[in-house]
Amino acid sequence: MNHKQIRKIFLSFFKRKKHKILNSASLVAKKDSSLMFTNAGMNIFQAFFIGQKKSQYSRIANFQKCLRITGKHNDLFEVGKDTYHHTMFEMLGNWSFGDYFKKESINWAWELLTEVYKMDKSNIYVTIFKGNKEDKLSFDSESFQYWKNKIDDSKILFFDKKHNFWEMGKTGPCGTCTEIHVDLRNEKEKLQIPGKNLVNKKHPLVIELWNIVFIQFFRKSDGTLVKLPNFHIDTGMGFERLCMILQNKKSTYDTDIFTYLIKSIAQKTDQIYGVTDKIDIAIRIIADHMRSVVFAISDGIIPSNKKYGYVIRKILRRIIVTYYLTLKINKPFLFKLVNPILCYMKHSYLKKSNTSLKYDISTIILREEKLFLKTINLGSYKLEKIIEELRAKKCNIIAGKIIYWLYDTYGLPIEISKLITNKNKIKVFSYDSL
Ligand code: ALA
Repeated sequence: MNHKQIRKIFLSFFKRKKHKILNSASLVAKKDSSLMFTNAGMNIFQAFFIGQKKSQYSRIANFQKCLRITGKHNDLFEVGKDTYHHTMFEMLGNWSFGDYFKKESINWAWELLTEVYKMDKSNIYVTIFKGNKEDKLSFDSESFQYWKNKIDDSKILFFDKKHNFWEMGKTGPCGTCTEIHVDLRNEKEKLQIPGKNLVNKKHPLVIELWNIVFIQFFRKSDGTLVKLPNFHIDTGMGFERLCMILQNKKSTYDTDIFTYLIKSIAQKTDQIYGVTDKIDIAIRIIADHMRSVVFAISDGIIPSNKKYGYVIRKILRRIIVTYYLTLKINKPFLFKLVNPILCYMKHSYLKKSNTSLKYDISTIILREEKLFLKTINLGSYKLEKIIEELRAKKCNIIAGKIIYWLYDTYGLPIEISKLITNKNKIKVFSYDSL
């Protein structure tokens, strides 16, 4: 199954269960002052959850692009190093606004995964909220009863609020949740360590797939919980992870959501993906971050010095530092990746083939690349000159504050200064100030 079929099956399944199907909303969390970017499918439905507005539909299913690079949910530093985190990912969700609750959401999740997608039941584990004294919440016995009818008791695991109580941020609608995890290791590995010991342990092949949240509370700014007048369902299934499982891959980056892009990056940088960890990590960072940048620009966020634009500029600069340092590239090439990403987006995110969008995004990215590479080259030149002067004085130590000054005044990233000082065998005296 390719990703288009997998998405379609999800939406058709919930359409049959009488859900209204919606397209993704923007990545910019416009209506929420506590958020910059949409970080979960539920963001756009908050007003329905807290009873501020009434939804026209009591059941909705959708796919939502999400960006987790700021705030409570921030995956930026996991990306690339592992094989399944992303800054921008797509979340498949089904929603009930005061309509169905635990029973249906659990039954349907199980039906979709095991009967429709035909996932191997023996690989599935589920987690349940075990209660929390601080919030005066008890064990979720109701979910436990529903899961017991489907799955062996030994595969039902209990966790505290860190894993089984979902909140968008410090305040807002929230609730206990049940999660579905999948063990993708081979039989030999499963015999050595049972999957239940690896759930929620950051194992790359024992991964969380679907979170079903029972929205029942509002978390106030003083930390207390208030019960909502109606109960709702908020679910989120990681689309990239679902494709990884159904396409029988060991990494989300090996699914057809990413392979065309990885191939394109490898070709354009003269690298081979899958041979060295260091190169693979760099390629994954470029692929992941470029998707974030292109999706964000297509939602109207232009890289700049301010707010949203600044966050996107920083992500773009993170890619440039990565290719400069690891792939030893010193000329723009990211702008050439825009077209393949737009081709991917065309299917579900762009209404019609939009050539001006392609042109605009490529131009914006090319301009950013040129600007930042110029900054890097000028800063590096200045640092090399300073090193020459130090050498002339037979000194092989540079003050940390000079490295900081180059960053502060000329924008030279500290990682690049470190590379240059290491290459020249110059010690940096105290990085404390950096
Ligand atoms: N809101 C839940 C999540 O993002 C489904 O995990």
